[in-house]
Amino acid sequence: MAAVEFFSYYSNLFGDRWDGLLAALSGPVNYKELHFGDELEPYFLDEASWFAAASLPIEPGMDVLDMCAAPGGKTLVLAGALAGVGTLQSNDRSADRRTRLHRVINSSLPEAYRNIISVTGHDASRFGLHRKNSFDRILLDAPCSSERHVIESAAHLAEWTQKRISHLAQQQGAMLAAAVDALRPGGMMIYSTCALSSLENDQVVAKILKKRTGKVRVLEMDPEFEGTDRTEFGLQMLPDRCAGRGPIYCARLEKPE
Ligand SMILES: C[S@@+](CC[C@H](N)C(=O)[O-])C[C@H]1O[C@@H](n2cnc3c(N)ncnc32)[C@H](O)[C@@H]1O
Repeated sequence: MAAVEFFSYYSNLFGDRWDGLLAALSGPVNYKELHFGDELEPYFLDEASWFAAASLPIEPGMDVLDMCAAPGGKTLVLAGALAGVGTLQSNDRSADRRTRLHRVINSSLPEAYRNIISVTGHDASRFGLHRKNSFDRILLDAPCSSERHVIESAAHLAEWTQKRISHLAQQQGAMLAAAVDALRPGGMMIYSTCALSSLENDQVVAKILKKRTGKVRVLEMDPEFEGTDRTEFGLQMLPDRCAGRGPIYCARLEKPE
């Protein structure tokens, strides 16, 4: 029953586009290889995910937070931009996933890049309380509906409910508020998800613009890949139009000085 509801929900959302999108969601992914040296393991990251992380302008010396970092593909992109100078806190609340995160960092990054990374296990929605105005850059790659994974698994499809989307949107809103509070004035962040619905994407951003009026604003983003959809506040790359890349939504936000 849940599977039927899932397909009918997204078919209503995407209309004529749904059949092609559904086929592309089960099709091949377009990967980017991240490789930091001959003795290190290459890491393969969906190019749309790479784009979301690479859209955060990072310079060596900055203090950077990856709020929901495991298994670590985007942390590698952030660490690459810092090139061993500055600090990178790679946080994830799940202990199992932090084990994978450690493995990815240790096997794919050179020692000098690893030395500035601290892996932590805090609840992302509480960063604003303990680390107010602390980071130059934040990536919030939030837990989301991950429909690409749901359709691959009968068990996940059987558990799907529409209510879960609003529950996740609430969590995402709390994490985004914490991220805004943890950013230094003048700092920048990316909010990203791999969710299809605007409830987890633009609408989360719309809420933070109201909740933190004057404390955060949206910055323009330029698409990298043909077929990227512009949304009200950001960009969405979906695999039917972006040659297998995505789904990824991202919006770039700035905390004014
Ligand atoms: C979309 S995944 C992150 C993927 C990661 N950024 C990457 O590129 O490999 C979302 C992550 O959020 C973590 N998470 C869920 N709830 C959390 C919370 N309250 N605080 C911190 N992390 C959380 C999950 O364990 C999961 O690893």
